[in-house]
Amino acid sequence: MSQETLTITDNRTKQSYTLPIEHGTIRAIDLRQIKTGPEDFGLMTYDPAFMNTASCRSRITFIDGDRGILHYRGYPIEVLAEHCSFLEVAFLILFGDLPTETELKNWVSQITHHTMLHETTKKFMEGFRYNAHPMAMLVTTVAALSTVYPDARAIDDPNNRLLQIKRLIGKMPSIAAMSYRHSLGFPYVYPDNDLNYAENFMNMLFRMVEPKYVANPVLARALDILFILHADHEQNCSANVMRSVGSAQADPYLTTAAAAAALSGPLHGGANEEVLKMIDEIGSKENVPAYVKRSKEGHSKLMGFGHRVYKNYDPRAKIIKRTAEQVFEVTGRNPKLEIALELERIALEDDYFIKRKLYPNVDFYSGIIYQAMGFKPEMFTVLFAIPRTAGWLAQWQEMLTDSEQKIARPRQVYAGHDVRPFLPIEKRSPSW
Ligand SMILES: CC(C)(COP(=O)(O)OP(=O)(O)OC[C@H]1O[C@@H](n2cnc3c(N)ncnc32)[C@H](O)[C@@H]1OP(=O)(O)O)[C@@H](O)C(=O)NCCC(=O)NCCS
Repeated sequence: MSQETLTITDNRTKQSYTLPIEHGTIRAIDLRQIKTGPEDFGLMTYDPAFMNTASCRSRITFIDGDRGILHYRGYPIEVLAEHCSFLEVAFLILFGDLPTETELKNWVSQITHHTMLHETTKKFMEGFRYNAHPMAMLVTTVAALSTVYPDARAIDDPNNRLLQIKRLIGKMPSIAAMSYRHSLGFPYVYPDNDLNYAENFMNMLFRMVEPKYVANPVLARALDILFILHADHEQNCSANVMRSVGSAQADPYLTTAAAAAALSGPLHGGANEEVLKMIDEIGSKENVPAYVKRSKEGHSKLMGFGHRVYKNYDPRAKIIKRTAEQVFEVTGRNPKLEIALELERIALEDDYFIKRKLYPNVDFYSGIIYQAMGFKPEMFTVLFAIPRTAGWLAQWQEMLTDSEQKIARPRQVYAGHDVRPFLPIEKRSPSW
């Protein structure tokens, strides 16, 4: 018998079953043959929150959470952050290899030519209240692009998919900038195709009356690095939503909007905004020990700490910490950094955090940089959504072209009533 098997004995029936093991997994469907009798549905696994379930095979991103390692398509994140531009990395994530010079030139030019938004999108944006959250505006506007591009429904056509991918990557910064300007009451700025991806985004965010926006190169590069770090992160909550909604063959705009909605949650991409709120609440370095104590007592989580997969320092947080120093040379030091550093120092020495392997994650320092660059905390998750769009779309393509995938449809363990008699309305007692 091959070593790569698992033998299970069902103590209910005393029967043994041998299941193949491949890539450290057994196939959940192989358990279905384990039955107590012909009427039995067969054994299932119960795995709330997918704690131990691989839902796909992927070739995009590799994480070793115990060692704090992150690779995109086989390249360490540190190398990509040092040598590449975000669009180069987006190409890598989407197509599997780094582009040649000509490929990159064409790719950048194609993305740049999809940055304009249809004028109806502007009108749509104008309908939002002045205080609408930029992330809610982004999610809604991305979904609304589905009305502008009904051709996107042809998801089986690879050329059509590619066109929508270019549109989404090109338009995401334009929508993000529009939502930012809307919340400030400033007029929208059109894209400037002479600028690179990050510079053009800054142009659409910050340009006022100057005829041509010139981005500070250090800040533009820092933003580009942050985009690289956020481009993909394998099967996280929003990637799983992207695959799940996409598996029903919804168009890529609605699917991306669904993924972005997942990202907006404070336990996912919304954490960077929460980190800033937490640091404001702490107020000063002296208050850090008391805050950490409260967190250990279960009153509040340390936002920006802990991760489902990383049980070591998040490699992205290390790069962000270094990038922060370069940004602060331009903007001046953000005083919140002192509180963050103290929080990290105290937490990393504390038994509670050591035992649970809670380390700073990507969101811990990103907000501090974003704030130094002039962003309001409400914009932080939007800044995460822009680059993650490349990752979502790569996950979406991989799912659609994987012959093993079907519409995502988990099973449940039914824990409700057995069949019971129907009561006419006058005979029912109040349930609450
Ligand atoms: C990311 C996160 C959702 C992962 O959650 P998870 O894998 O389900 O881990 P759990 O919630 O089961 O946490 C395990 C233990 O660590 C504790 N814990 C986890 N994150 C914590 C934090 N940020 N602060 C304090 N305690 C934390 C939990 O209370 C739990 O303790 P217990 O074993 O005594 O019950 C969680 O760490 C979190 O909420 N972090 C803050 C939000 C954040 O920064 N999110 C961004 C992720 S990139």
